[in-house]
Amino acid sequence: MKAEAYRIKVVEPVKLTTKEERKKLIKKAGYNPFLLKAEDVYIDLLSDSGTGAMSQNQWAGMMLGDESYAGSKNFYNFESAVKDITGFKYVLPVHQGRGAENVLDSALIKPGDVIPGNMHFDTTKAHIEHKKGKAVDCTIDEACKPVSNYPFKGNVDLKKLENVIKKYTGKKIPFIVVTVTCNSAGGQPVSMKNLKDVKKLASKYKIPVFIDAARYAENAYFIKKREKEYRNRTVKEIAHEMFSYADGCTMSCKKDAIVNIGGFLAMNSKRLYQKCSSFGILFEGFPTYGGMAGRDMEAIARGLYEGIDERYLEDRIGQVEYLGNKLKENNIPIIEPVGGHAVYVDVKRFLPHIKPEEFPAHALCCELYVESGVRAVEIGTLLAGRDETGENRIPKLEMLRLTIPRRVYTYRHMDVVVEGLKNLYKRRKEIKGLKMVYEPPILRHFTARFKPIRGEL
Ligand code: F0G
Repeated sequence: MKAEAYRIKVVEPVKLTTKEERKKLIKKAGYNPFLLKAEDVYIDLLSDSGTGAMSQNQWAGMMLGDESYAGSKNFYNFESAVKDITGFKYVLPVHQGRGAENVLDSALIKPGDVIPGNMHFDTTKAHIEHKKGKAVDCTIDEACKPVSNYPFKGNVDLKKLENVIKKYTGKKIPFIVVTVTCNSAGGQPVSMKNLKDVKKLASKYKIPVFIDAARYAENAYFIKKREKEYRNRTVKEIAHEMFSYADGCTMSCKKDAIVNIGGFLAMNSKRLYQKCSSFGILFEGFPTYGGMAGRDMEAIARGLYEGIDERYLEDRIGQVEYLGNKLKENNIPIIEPVGGHAVYVDVKRFLPHIKPEEFPAHALCCELYVESGVRAVEIGTLLAGRDETGENRIPKLEMLRLTIPRRVYTYRHMDVVVEGLKNLYKRRKEIKGLKMVYEPPILRHFTARFKPIRGEL
C-alpha cells in the first residue's frame, strides 16, 4: 500500500462554510461558480491549470531568479530542460499555453485555412478562429462514448484526417494539432502508435504536426501502462519519442510542469522560430523571457523534471483514478475510463430529467457547491455556446469536470467529493435546471448569471 509521494511542509488554511452560507453565496454569484470568491470554496476542482503545489526545489529556485531583461541565466536552464525532454531545437518562452497558440497561429494561419486535430481545446480553437481559420475535429468515435474500455480515446481517426486533407488539399492546411492528453474528450490519452501514424500520414502530404503538450507527461505515463512495448521504457524516453513524431509543440507549463504560470513554443525549423520570435516580441516579450519573470523560468526548469518522475505520476494519476473508482462504486455515472487530470461525471445519466437548455451539468455544479463546498466546472451546453443561427449548441456529452490540482489535495478530500455527489445522487430527482438571466456575447460560461427554474436551490 502506498500513500502520497510527498510530505507536507507548508499549509494553506481553508475556510469551512455552512450549507446555509453557501446557499447565499452561490445566489449572490448568480448561480455561477466562476463568480464565487475562491476563499469561499472548500475544495477547488475548477481547474488543474496553475493550481498545483510547487516543491521545495522549485521554491528554492525562485530565489535564484535572474531578472535581467535579456539573457537571464534562468532562461538557459529552462531552455536546456525543454530541449532535453522534447528534443526540439528551438524554444520560445511565453506567458502561458494560449500565448504559444497565438504566436504559432499568427505565424502560420491564413484566412480560410483548416487545422485538423483531436477535439481542440477551447483556447486552441478560439485562436484558430481568431485568425479566420477553421478547426476540424478528427477524433475517433469512441471519444464520444461515455463508457468504453478503449484505452486511447484521445486518438486521431486516420480516415477522418485523410478525408479532411484530401478535401482541403495540402495548401490550405498549415499544420495538424494533436492534444495530449485530450482534455475535451475527458483527459483521454493518445497512443504512441497513433502519434506515429499521424506523422506518417502528415508527411505523405508534407503537413507539419504540432503537439499541444499541456499534459504530455500524463499521456506518456498512460502509454507506459497501456501500450505493451513501452512497459520497460522510462516516461522521459516515452515523452522524447512522442515529440519525435511532431515538428513542434505548444505547452501550457501550468499543467505538467507544475507551476502557477508559464509556457513555451518549441520547434525544429529555424525559419519558423525566427518568424515566431517576431510575433513573440510583439505579444509576449523578448525571446529570453516571453512574459515570464526569471524566477518563473527557473521553477519550470525544475518542475519539468518533477512532472516526469514516475513515482509522482503514479501518485497523481492514482489519485484521480481513486476518485473515479469511488464514484463508480456508488453508482454515480462517470466517463470511462477515467482520464489523467480529472473525473468527468456523465450528467446525461445523472440528471436525465433536465433538458440541455436548462444546463443540467451547470445546475449540478451549483448543487455540489451548496452540498459540500466543492467547486467543479461544467463542460456541456453552457460551454458550447450558440451556433451561427443563435441556437444553443447541444454537445454530445454533458459533463461535470472534477479537475484535480497536482499535489494539493489528499485522499480524504477525494472522499468528501464522493460523499457530496452520493448525497446529490440520492435526491437527484428533486434537482432542477437553471434559467440564464444574463448572457454575455462571447465565452458566456465565465460571466453568465442564472436563476433556478423554480424557487431556490
Ligand atoms: N491546451 C490545453 C489542452 C489546455 O487544457 C489548456 C488550458 C490550454 C491549451 C491553454 O493553456 O490556460 O495556459 O493558456 N486548460 C485549462 C483547463 C484552462 O482548465 O483545462 P493556458
